[in-house]
Amino acid sequence: MENTINCGVIGLGRLGYWHAHNIASRVPNTKLVKVCDVDLDKAKLVSKELMVDYFTNNPFEIIEDDHIDAVIIATPTSTHFELLKHASNYGKKIFVEKPLTINIDEAEEICNLFKMNKTTCQVGFMRRFDPAYAEAKKRIQAGDIGEPIYFKGISRDPDSPHEEFIKNSGGIFIDIAIHDFDMARYLMKSEIQYISSNGSVLKHLFMEKYNDADQASSYIEFESGAAGDIEVSRNAYYGYDIRTEIIGTEGTITIGGLRYHNINILTKSGKTHDILPNFPERFKDAYYLEMVHFIESLKTGQKPIVTEIDGLKALKVSIKATESYLEKKKVNSYH
Ligand SMILES: NC(=O)c1ccc[n+]([C@@H]2O[C@H](COP(=O)([O-])OP(=O)(O)OC[C@H]3O[C@@H](n4cnc5c(N)ncnc54)[C@H](O)[C@@H]3O)[C@@H](O)[C@H]2O)c1
Repeated sequence: MENTINCGVIGLGRLGYWHAHNIASRVPNTKLVKVCDVDLDKAKLVSKELMVDYFTNNPFEIIEDDHIDAVIIATPTSTHFELLKHASNYGKKIFVEKPLTINIDEAEEICNLFKMNKTTCQVGFMRRFDPAYAEAKKRIQAGDIGEPIYFKGISRDPDSPHEEFIKNSGGIFIDIAIHDFDMARYLMKSEIQYISSNGSVLKHLFMEKYNDADQASSYIEFESGAAGDIEVSRNAYYGYDIRTEIIGTEGTITIGGLRYHNINILTKSGKTHDILPNFPERFKDAYYLEMVHFIESLKTGQKPIVTEIDGLKALKVSIKATESYLEKKKVNSYH
């Protein structure tokens, strides 16, 4: 592969904008040659800001462009399937935001197609690249906490995204808990076998018509015999709250906290610090590092550390969690 990897970004919303920004400004050995959003004004604005020569509202124009080596897909989840199929058939290298697709049939079809076309794909489970999570993984591997026996995940968003997003997101387990399910598989080095999930709509009443929840929890049991629980929420009015704890036989690792800038404000009324507002601030480094890894893997020809297979496995667990919540029963994630 040539020295510079030419990229096109499809979908320039809450996350796609940051991928475009990182590629245009700081990911080594890459060039952002085209940006796309169905909203042409948005595409035009981003291309102007990032000094990208071409913009379009047609994603296929990017996928079919022979000068583009890699596509970054950051459109609503329900659109991933068609774009992934097309990109693979046109020989593109692919970075796709999580979840891989909205359902298992689509995800399995994508995995088979990628195998046949030998498509390189990285899925946007950016927590694996966050320096704190990456360090935790190293410490667990080094045996610092003995054998991991319990996983605790908390993922709270400050609010709900817009209704159109919720409608196309697959629900809270597929949209949010999927990050925790991926981290659970990754850090505990075992697959999740059983899940019991519960959920409620506590604040965002419009979610009822999509059978979604804005507050939910899952108790998980791993193949290894370990266990865990995961809380997900859209109701953290105070900010973006992502925490993980791994309990081992000889120690515990905790990851994450609420603090944004490392300062305290001391006044007569007390001591305060600011709180992380949302995901672009908390995972700024991770979004950059995952893209660096993607580009490096294209240059070296080595598989990314998180592929469509991880995307499929985490999606299966998320869908089983949704089933458990809707049917009010414990489910086996393998059947
Ligand atoms: N990894 C993370 O932390 C993280 C965070 C947020 C979102 N996401 C994922 O990223 C994806 C996008 O989410 P978002 O929050 O950025 O959504 P968003 O609604 O903010 O942005 C989506 C953008 O895609 C555009 N779009 C829609 N259909 C398109 C199409 N067919 N072709 C081109 N553009 C199209 C929309 O106009 C919009 O600008 C979702 O899959 C979501 O799950 C991941």
